[in-house]
Amino acid sequence: MAFHTKSGGGGQPQSAPTRVLFVCLGNICRSPAAEMIFSALLEEAGLRGRISCDSCGTASYHVGQKPDSRMLAALQRAGIPYNGHRARRFSPADFDRFDLIVPQDEENRSHILALARTPEQAARVVPMSRWFPPECGLPEVPDPYYGGARGFDAVVSLLQAACSAILHELS
Ligand code: 4NP
Repeated sequence: MAFHTKSGGGGQPQSAPTRVLFVCLGNICRSPAAEMIFSALLEEAGLRGRISCDSCGTASYHVGQKPDSRMLAALQRAGIPYNGHRARRFSPADFDRFDLIVPQDEENRSHILALARTPEQAARVVPMSRWFPPECGLPEVPDPYYGGARGFDAVVSLLQAACSAILHELS
């Protein structure tokens, strides 16, 4: 695993915040949910000054749109507020803007890796599944877009567990 946190080695946190980018396909379901969940955890932990996050999609179909209303409803059931996010598309410039790029599934991981120009950029891309609880038995965050409300609730639970694990590793 090539990804290093900025506070790595000597245990001395640096002043620049660690910037985390969650990526899915449309940026209206999984990655904005991960962003809002992670953001709520940062707030709770008082880590907003040290860690920041954003989200985007590899496709442009939904650029400028709010998250899917079914995902906003599932987040509301979990007590996570909407932060005003609007969908945007991943850009190669994101490799310079973010320290850790977290694709939600394998397809989006390979799309982003195809855009990496250096091994250092590729090393910033780490799949969300790295932080799944071992017992969940899933290889990636399932796409809830074509399913029902229960699928959205299940994705929110999985993202809550994974985001807690990311925060634990970074802080
Ligand atoms: P997301 O979900 O990648 O988690 O935002 C999807 C959103 C839109 C579509 C597919 C998945 N779509 O086909 O439009």
